Amino acid sequence: MKVLVIGGGAREHALCRSLSLDPDVTALYCAPGNAGIAEVAELRSVDALDGAAVAALAADLGAGLVVVGPEAPLVAGVADAVRARGIPVFGPSAQAARLEGSKAFAKDVMAAAGVPTARSYVCTTAEEIDAALDAFGAPYVVKDDGLAAGKGVVVTEDAAVARAHALACGQTVIEEFLDGPEVSLFAITDGESVVPLQPAQDFKRALDGDAGPNTGGMGAYSPLPWADPQLVDEVLATVLQPTVDELRRRGTPFSGLLYAGLAITSRGVRVIEFNARFGDPETQVVLARLKTPLAGLLHAAATGTLAAVPPLRWSDGAAVTVVIASHNYPGTPRTGDPIEGLAAVAEQDGPKAYVLHAGTAQDASGAVLSAGGRVLSVTATGADLTAARDRAYRAVGRISLDGSQHRTDIARQAAADADREANAGAQA
Ligand code: AMP
Ligand code: GLY
Repeated sequence: MKVLVIGGGAREHALCRSLSLDPDVTALYCAPGNAGIAEVAELRSVDALDGAAVAALAADLGAGLVVVGPEAPLVAGVADAVRARGIPVFGPSAQAARLEGSKAFAKDVMAAAGVPTARSYVCTTAEEIDAALDAFGAPYVVKDDGLAAGKGVVVTEDAAVARAHALACGQTVIEEFLDGPEVSLFAITDGESVVPLQPAQDFKRALDGDAGPNTGGMGAYSPLPWADPQLVDEVLATVLQPTVDELRRRGTPFSGLLYAGLAITSRGVRVIEFNARFGDPETQVVLARLKTPLAGLLHAAATGTLAAVPPLRWSDGAAVTVVIASHNYPGTPRTGDPIEGLAAVAEQDGPKAYVLHAGTAQDASGAVLSAGGRVLSVTATGADLTAARDRAYRAVGRISLDGSQHRTDIARQAAADADREANAGAQA
């Protein structure tokens, strides 16, 4: 099978890496890709938001599967254009991708499907905003209704800050604050059958200790030793399947990846948000643990044959990814700085640690330069979280990028808790 991946971030690098290891993949292309993806896939240039151009490229390449990575092309209808050409595509239609593209639409679907989520108001006027902020009180949660690359949400104790963000949004969703740890759970679906992947946890704030502004995600780990073993089954039954059923009932079936961002509150699991594509950086750790070949799984979702796929196989070990971001991210990042140490990671830590590229580019001399906010996603596997985490941070330490930042506490608490449990178990 010839596969074309659309996108050019660390998520697409992780997808391409897994696809390149799948013996059923005879040729792998990525458009537009980045400097790291070029090592595992042939790059093509395309405007990822132009459905006609993506469909034409897929037809030219003879692709038997197109995988659309990011949300913007999905919301723009790129999957529809490829599907209209008769080419199997992993990714929802524009209609179904509104689950991510509009938070108000997602709330409407959840209400209809009986999916547990934060109580909320959709507001457009100053009066509505003030009434909603008053109704919930602090901490305030204010969300831009539309796509905002993970940066449209403000959670604050400060009513003036909440109000200013709401007024700047145009249409905004103001909702109840959800307490408790967050979990990202992905599911592959063909619009009818739903196959959950293993849960992961993302670190959304820029700085250690969950301080600083929200970002697209600064690191992730999987599995979650602290989570209830029933969590995946529960979320399948109460969130994922009802949502997929509701979208099918509406005549806009969702096929592709349904991402549930969840809060595990004292009153039970609540949906924080849906996304219509693989999460970044959680994909890096989930795919690092998936043993089932990826192309067949995605192809089954794209062709409505997921029910026939055997149970997924997973490694028992753990995976951790640490994002290296540019100076000033999530503000306007500084770009064009040289990245050193990539070869050292490959030589000294590979293959259990590896560097997935997000915002990188190659200059004429072949040097790899920073080209975006999140630059690299350093990923490692190990027998447990502590082993994977130590290996990931060893690799991070070999990389230099002037002015860059990364969190030092990715998976720290979960690894320490798991070690303590294991020691207590050994002594009992
Ligand atoms: P979202 O883009 O909706 O996932 O929001 C980004 C981040 O904001 C989430 O990962 C949470 O950390 C935080 N957040 C969003 N909604 C809520 C909520 N209702 N209560 C508490 N935190 C939230
Ligand atoms: N890691 C959060 C996201 O992909 O939206």
